[in-house]
Amino acid sequence: MNPKAVQKPDSNALQAAILQLIGGDLREMESVFQRELRSQHPYVTDVLTHLNTYRGKRLRPMLLLLTAQAVGECGVEHHVLAAVVEMIHTATLVHDDVLDEATTRRHVATVNSRWNNETSVLLGDYLFTHAFHLAASLDSALACRLIGRATNLVCEGELAQIHERGNSELTEEQYFHIIEGKTAELCAVSCYLGAHFAGASEAVVQAMETYGRNLGIAFQIADDLLDVCGTEQETGKTLGSDLEKQKLTLPLIRLLAESEPDEQMRIRELLAHPSAATRQEINRLLRATDALEYARRRAFDYVAGARASLACLNDSPARQVLETMTEFVVQRST
Ligand code: IPE
Ligand code: IPE
Ligand code: MG
Ligand code: MG
Repeated sequence: MNPKAVQKPDSNALQAAILQLIGGDLREMESVFQRELRSQHPYVTDVLTHLNTYRGKRLRPMLLLLTAQAVGECGVEHHVLAAVVEMIHTATLVHDDVLDEATTRRHVATVNSRWNNETSVLLGDYLFTHAFHLAASLDSALACRLIGRATNLVCEGELAQIHERGNSELTEEQYFHIIEGKTAELCAVSCYLGAHFAGASEAVVQAMETYGRNLGIAFQIADDLLDVCGTEQETGKTLGSDLEKQKLTLPLIRLLAESEPDEQMRIRELLAHPSAATRQEINRLLRATDALEYARRRAFDYVAGARASLACLNDSPARQVLETMTEFVVQRST
């Protein structure tokens, strides 16, 4: 898919369409989320208030609720499941900010910088356990099993990434394996559950899962591009941590693959010694080559894959929004 052929979606129009379709369901999801995360302990309440006041994009709940609407309708189970996937996502972010030593998330201080790493570790655990406690409140054990499996893969992806830190020979295949785990799996299971609990056939449920997986991969490639080209003002989070922590992402893998051996040696030296000066030089190289463009192109390939999976759905406003979201995830600046 040629990125230039795709028009940038109007994010205000997309937001309005989403709210019109699932605004009520998102509010239900929020109230389940808040109800589950209540504590008698003042310190826990303090940390939870910090988390709940600053919202993210709510991408995973939106995917779950929109896929449900695209195949049928949302019910109480969807509101619970949407809160569960957002809780798991939030847990991974709280832990991830410790790994990345990030100071800003969702435009405010991270839990680790406002409190400390110990609080983040325990709060992340607290969010994981509450997510499974909530999922277990449903009659069906299927949701718990699938969410458990997806979360296992998310954690495996983060572990694999930590293991590969500093490996400047990371291949594209290894990179894709990592991001399929750490990011795409939760998007995939969100779409699977949305469709399954709305009564879709097995074939449609599988197609929605594939949609979510492709969209998740494109979303993480875009995130990795934002880490080098985005602004902290717009994303509201600490950027540059991939280079800082020596995590190779797609633009860097491409840059190395396309460089002559001498130049490769020089880039590897730069990567091994992160500093303001080496980051600047790497950024210059990324912009002087096709590395960024290549990563964008690959993201659009996954966008095309996601869109193709929607072909089995009847036309509906929810389906149209799912289609527009595929473009939004790669064209976004936040
Ligand atoms: C950030 O996810 C972590 C990634 C998988 C890239 P989001 O960009 O969805 O974070 P929030 O929830 O909107 O803050
Ligand atoms: C983390 O990826 C994705 C997770 C599954 C937590 P990143 O480290 O790129 O996410 P950000 O950029 O901090 O949001
Ligand atoms: Mg991070
Ligand atoms: Mg990132």
